[in-house]
Amino acid sequence: MLILNGPNLGRLGVREPEIYGADTHADLVAAVGEWGSGLGLEVDARQTDDEAQIVRWLHEAVDTRSHVVLNPAAFTHYSYALRDAAAQVTTSGLLLVEVHLSNPHTRESFRHYSVVSGVATGTIAGFGFVSYRLALAAIADRLQG
Ligand code: DQA
Repeated sequence: MLILNGPNLGRLGVREPEIYGADTHADLVAAVGEWGSGLGLEVDARQTDDEAQIVRWLHEAVDTRSHVVLNPAAFTHYSYALRDAAAQVTTSGLLLVEVHLSNPHTRESFRHYSVVSGVATGTIAGFGFVSYRLALAAIADRLQG
């Protein structure tokens, strides 16, 4: 399965640590790898600042039948291209869990709306790296059930 992280998440550890924490994207990749293998999931975690790249990765998820954990970062709030690509994942019968480190609903009003949520299987926000662990657990649970 794919874990896709959007713009500025490669700056974790440096970027607004009071909001996003002190750990780096490499730390996140290591954590999701461990959590994934504990749950029997093969995890491929990637990050890009490029909207088109995420769209291509979502197409790849459809073509390779991969479930997705997606943190669209700022694209969450305005990228219809990402929403349309995410919709292709879920309408093809795959799971797509939208995750956020912070809880966007407690922050600036432009963060309160997600264009992705309406096509996601579900959304988990506000738990830092643990948001990803919960997303992986939700996917593992669905796959077992
Ligand atoms: C974020 C929340 C978004 O509003 C923000 O633009 C991000 C990160 C989060 O993980 O909390 O870049 O997706």
